Amino acid sequence: MRFKGFVLMLLALVTSSVLAACGGAPAAPTAAPTTASTGATTAPTGATTAPATAAPTNSTLAVGIVLPTKDEPRWIQDETRFKEALTAAGYQVEILFSQGDSAKEKANVEALLTKGIKVLIICPQDGTAAAAAADAARKAGVKVISYDRLIRETDAVDYYVTFDSLAVGANQAKYLVDNAKGTGNPLYLYAGASSDNNAFVFFQGAWKVLQPKIADGTFVIKNSSEAVALQAKADLTRDEQAKIIGQITTNWDFNVAKTLAESNLTSATAADKGNVFILAPNDGTARSIADTFKADKDVKSYLVTGQDAEKASVQYIIDGKQSMTVFKDVRTLVKDAITAAVSLLQGKTPTASGVYNNGKVDVPAVQSAVVTVDKANLKASLIDSGYYQASDFTGL
Ligand code: BGC
Repeated sequence: MRFKGFVLMLLALVTSSVLAACGGAPAAPTAAPTTASTGATTAPTGATTAPATAAPTNSTLAVGIVLPTKDEPRWIQDETRFKEALTAAGYQVEILFSQGDSAKEKANVEALLTKGIKVLIICPQDGTAAAAAADAARKAGVKVISYDRLIRETDAVDYYVTFDSLAVGANQAKYLVDNAKGTGNPLYLYAGASSDNNAFVFFQGAWKVLQPKIADGTFVIKNSSEAVALQAKADLTRDEQAKIIGQITTNWDFNVAKTLAESNLTSATAADKGNVFILAPNDGTARSIADTFKADKDVKSYLVTGQDAEKASVQYIIDGKQSMTVFKDVRTLVKDAITAAVSLLQGKTPTASGVYNNGKVDVPAVQSAVVTVDKANLKASLIDSGYYQASDFTGL
């Protein structure tokens, strides 16, 4: 049977090829069960191409993958790692990009359903809007794996593979706290897109660590009146988070991040600058925020966080232009997604280590650990582990 053949191939892949493709590096340990909060919605932006990637084989297309955009290196990393793990094994898989457009995403899912997929692995552009795509898949008898970002407000999500996103935010905040001395340090907060549930989870993780240090005067928030109004509260509701994120969102867009940082610096006095601390949600936004702060004559020094270990940011860290990143080993996420796909194709229930509530149901989930990377451990974590080549960088 074609389907059986595919399953056997996937099994072989999971037990051997994935590890080989992963360069033999240890997989990140599975973290403890977590219940994370839910997601809000904003309008998607931009729509361009959605090229497909298919491995040459005559087997039925059993798994379809939909990723949010080709415009951010993060998702190219995922595409590359999926390709390494899947197409190298010689069976058919198709990877489509939504290009920041939920309508395109839905059309991509429908195209894959027409091709007869049995499992959909999808990273939603907009967590709530993607519920319609998940519902369509469920109606067609297709299992849905939410990948990295949680699809919200539907029961049509079978499984969720994710990183420990609370730890991402907590690690970023901890870096700032560990490097701050004295009191009155200017703090600038930035967040991801409010259409992405992860943006809330990252912020929640960061706030938990930062808030006591704001309350004790170590940091003074300079760019969000909503955050200042809530600074005495250790735990924020989702609505309170949404109010803050509404003021500090980058929408995961480098240009929005740059414009927002510029406007924050224009409103700030010279006394609000000096040696500044910046919570930037990911690498792409960190680089544009860092460049903007660097160009301000009243900024004497800055510390800026990030996440994803994008190559450009790894170079920024080597060059002293970005302080840290949070390394999320995409190989692990890909492996977890494939393992879950295999279980679902076999009619089994994938092993879960916890659940994430998506506003409608508790979605069984597996989450993997993340690692803080700065100049001190960059080589060990990213080069010696085989994730990147030393030749990808200069001045290592
Ligand atoms: C991902 C991050 C990524 C961001 C922007 C988040 O959902 O977890 O890794 O940087 O989206 O694409």
